[in-house]
Amino acid sequence: MTESENFYQNIFTSLIDGVLVISADLKIIKGNLAAEEMFQRSGGSFEGELLSELFPDQPGVMEKARQSIATGTAYHHLEGIGHRKSNDACFPTNLTFSPITNDADQSTVGVILIQDTTLIKELQETSRQTEHLSTLSVLTIGMAHEIRNPLSGIRGSAQLLLKDLEGSEQREYMEIIIAEVDRINRLVTRMMNLTQPASVDFKPTNIHQVLEEILVFEKETLERKKGKFIQTYDPSLPSIEGNEDELKQMFLNLVKNAVEASPEGGQVRIVTQFSSNYALRKALETSSTHGIVVEIIDSGPGMTDAALKNLFTPFFTTKKRGTGLGMVVSLKIIENHSGKIKVTSERNVGTVVQVFLPVNRK
Ligand SMILES: Nc1ncnc2c1ncn2[C@@H]1O[C@H](COP(=O)(O)OP(=O)(O)OP(=O)(O)O)[C@@H](O)[C@H]1O
Ligand SMILES: [Mg+2]
Repeated sequence: MTESENFYQNIFTSLIDGVLVISADLKIIKGNLAAEEMFQRSGGSFEGELLSELFPDQPGVMEKARQSIATGTAYHHLEGIGHRKSNDACFPTNLTFSPITNDADQSTVGVILIQDTTLIKELQETSRQTEHLSTLSVLTIGMAHEIRNPLSGIRGSAQLLLKDLEGSEQREYMEIIIAEVDRINRLVTRMMNLTQPASVDFKPTNIHQVLEEILVFEKETLERKKGKFIQTYDPSLPSIEGNEDELKQMFLNLVKNAVEASPEGGQVRIVTQFSSNYALRKALETSSTHGIVVEIIDSGPGMTDAALKNLFTPFFTTKKRGTGLGMVVSLKIIENHSGKIKVTSERNVGTVVQVFLPVNRK
């Protein structure tokens, strides 16, 4: 191989998108490493196979591939469903067809660029769930969330004291406390219907510092259950453009949920790392060349499908004292930071919450 051939071979191998070279009769001539990974194939096993094996029952895709080579036209952003033979699984893809022309200006082969859009689709799904919320501001619902927590404590204690004051004159005062607490509660609920612009006060923020500060708050609760935090931080992460208070509030909500879900002796893992995934970059719709991901992993009971579906529905809670606003507030903050959240949960194994944040905002 000459040096320049070697150079092109390297590019072909290292591309993070899948690339397939196909012949005019829609057989695969070659696939790169990313394509092999996407379809879970070993090296070279594509060769000679029909394109329709990878994209079965999709005459539209085949037609575009054929047309592209026959007419020398490129087609961008077609949706296709990739099929993995090994486990009979399907995944969504975004396809670009480009013909390759020879010296005589004829095209006999074509190139298909394949992007696995599974992650983009999943992240879009999360955002879609709260589209109706877009008018509610982070500040208002955030405040409501923070006010309601102590209120339920005050009300509960007052209720208990009320029992002890049976027949006493002071009973009346206690009843006033309860009535007033109820009033604030209603007020806060109404406040949530107000709109306020999202925060614009963004500064370079050290994500590890944010995490460490909130872990202090939750450490004791976790230790009471004989559990502990395990931090795995990538020290080379850059600071991100963010609002420190909002980020703290968001991570506190997520860590709190993980701690609350933790069984006796359970560990809560906090992992930070770079995320240079192309699909993600597109999903974040940012010009930022890279993003970071913070993962909060618990070993709790996980969630039912129904709970997972309603996770971002305001007031959805399975907890006695819960407001069901923690996740909604968190999502709004993440969106305010042009980020994305992904939650995966397995019954009796635990829950993984991934927060993707761009390093620079758009
Ligand atoms: N890590 C987790 N493991 C299991 N279930 C979870 C987890 N995180 C959230 N949930 C489920 O999602 C629901 C909604 O969570 P959210 O944080 O919005 O409200 P909450 O925790 O119930 O109330 P609050 O945050 O006001 O204390 C929870 O009640 C719980 O059922
Ligand atoms: Mg919560």
